[in-house]
This record gives sequence, C-alpha cells and structure tokens, in this order.
Amino acid sequence: MKVLGIESSCDETAAAVVEDGRKIISNIVRTQISTHELYGGVVPEIASRAHLEAISSVTRLALEPIGGIENIDAISVTNAPGLIGALLVGVGFAKGLSFSSCKPLVPVHHIRGHVAAAYLTHYDLTPPFIALIVSGGHSHLVYVSDYTSYKILGGTRDDAAGESFDKAARVLGLGYPGGPKMDALAKLGDPDSIYFPRVHFHDAPFDFSFSGVKTSIINYVHNAEQTGKELNKPDVAASFSRAICEILTEKAVLAVNSFDLPQKKLVVAGGVAANSMLRKMISEEADKNGITLYIPDIPLCGDNGAMIASQGYYEYCSGNIASSDLNAFATESIEL
Ligand code: KG4
Ligand code: ZN
Repeated sequence: MKVLGIESSCDETAAAVVEDGRKIISNIVRTQISTHELYGGVVPEIASRAHLEAISSVTRLALEPIGGIENIDAISVTNAPGLIGALLVGVGFAKGLSFSSCKPLVPVHHIRGHVAAAYLTHYDLTPPFIALIVSGGHSHLVYVSDYTSYKILGGTRDDAAGESFDKAARVLGLGYPGGPKMDALAKLGDPDSIYFPRVHFHDAPFDFSFSGVKTSIINYVHNAEQTGKELNKPDVAASFSRAICEILTEKAVLAVNSFDLPQKKLVVAGGVAANSMLRKMISEEADKNGITLYIPDIPLCGDNGAMIASQGYYEYCSGNIASSDLNAFATESIEL
C-alpha cells in the first residue's frame, strides 16, 4: 500500500511516498531556513505563506516516481500539533487532493510521525518500546504499546530540549537554527569545563525541566560579558550539551529499565535525536544496560513527509480515516 505524506507543521514543507509504512519511495523536504534566518527564528505568518508557495511543487515532486496521485492508496497529513497557520496549509491542500482524487485522507499527529521515522531506518522495529521524543516543541518519554497506542510517562515542565539548544545558540550568537550549530561547536570544546545544572523531580522521575539550564547559560554568558572575561564558546556549547544529553539519556534508560517490556527497546526521535553527543551517549548507556537502541538516520530526525506517510499507513490500518470536516490543531496529546 502506497501512502502520500504531507507535512507543514513548522518550517519545512515536505511530501513523501512510503510503501507499507517502511519503504521510502520519495521524500522531498523544502526548508525555510534561509527565510527565517533573517529574523533569528521561525516567524509563523511567513512560514504559512512559504508553505503555500511550496506545497504544490513539493507534492508533485514526491509523486513523480510513482507516476501521479492515481497510484496512491491514501493521503496522510499532519493535522496537529504545530503552528496553526502552517498546519492549515497542509491540511487544506491534502483535503483538496483527497476530494479531487477520491483517495482516503488520514490525519497524523506530528509527534507520532517522529516516532515512525524509526520504522523507516530500522525495518525490524516493532512495538512495544519506550520512545524518547525530543524536538523543538516537545520533550516526552512515551510507552508505545502499539503503532497507534501511546502512554505518556513524563514530559518537560517548561522548555523543550530543542528549544533550549536554540536559546543557548542565540545567547552565544550562533543564530538560527541553533541545534545543529551548537552540535558542531560542542565538538570543539571540553564538556567537563563548566557545570550546568541538571534537574530531577523525585515524585516524577520521567519529567524534565530545561528552564534552569537555559537561565544558567544566559547568566554565564552575561557574566562573562560584564566582567570582560573571555568566553570560550566551544567549552560553553560542549558543557551545555552535556547537561542536556546526560539528563535525557539517564531518564530514557531509567524508563526502559522500569517497565516490563518483552524486549528492552528504546527509540529516540525528533530533531534533537540528530545531536551527535546524544546519539553517542545514549548508545553507550544502552549497550551497558542491554537495551536495543533505534534512532532514525539523521535526515529522518528532522521534520519530513516520510515519517508522516509511515505513521499514516499505521493510522489507516487502525481505521483512522478523516471525515470531511477534518481540522488542524495547534496542540493535541499524542495519547488521543
Ligand atoms: O523535530 P524538529 O525538526 O521540529 C519540531 O517538531 O520541533 O526539531 C527541531 C529542533 C530544533 O530545536 C533544532 O534546533 C533541534 O531540533 N535540532 C538539534 C539538532 N538538529 C536539530 N538540536 C541539537 N543538535 C542537533 N544536531
Ligand atoms: Zn517535528
């Protein structure tokens, strides 16, 4: 079964065709980085307009290898969560496409899509497993009992991990998008040089908080500026990254060890799963704990249409077909 996936929840306009949830036939991503770079972050209205301009040609390119929409079995689209204006472009376009082609329309939760990116890299991966989902707007630990059944174990109480990387990059003057720039700079620094705080909640071991570490880096940089102390940016980036990666790794491993899974499986997904320090740290800890780790290939960690088409296949199989009044939502729980 061939599913078209359309994604427009933030700053990438993307479309892809995936067969049976696992095999990528096409995967076209048009990023808006150069547009938003000027403003140091995503400007929602500009994002919506850029999606509107790109969505037809991106979808046409994705459909090319299979000869057009007539050879698609279902159309899936991200309808939540995300920037509402951006989501509406994808949902409106997908509804029109479904209406004109008489193909079923399948709504996909963006974060479920991030988890599904792991199926595209690891063909042997099947639920149940624990997923650490770390993106620009979300940081969650989730028990995935089946392809469409999720239980949130914990999440961030304030900022998301990606948001913290972006903020730290801004404070260090690295610009947008911050995560990849912090990653590159951290490779040149000493992660043990500065201590940034790690927050634990004794009553909620799977919850995160990144606002403290964010404030701490802001204070550190401002203090250096005010006292005229030279700032070793690679050391700051490396130490900050270490604080974030350590807490993510520790809680993810604890979650896998705390639940009675038939096999100890951990998925790490979302934009921050591309972070090289996180990938290394979590894979070392997984090895030590007898956990099999599944991380999507780096190009599939960020937003893309293939992850939506993959999850779209599983949503379709579970009977999740949209009716004609499908809407978009800025927030929605992965559990719904
Ligand atoms: O999943 P994603 O592409 O979009 C959302 O759904 O939010 O995640 C984007 C986030 C941004 O905060 C970006 O800075 C971060 O992922 N990110 C990274 C890296 N690549 C992307 N953070 C740390 N290291 C990276 N290599
Ligand atoms: Zn995303």
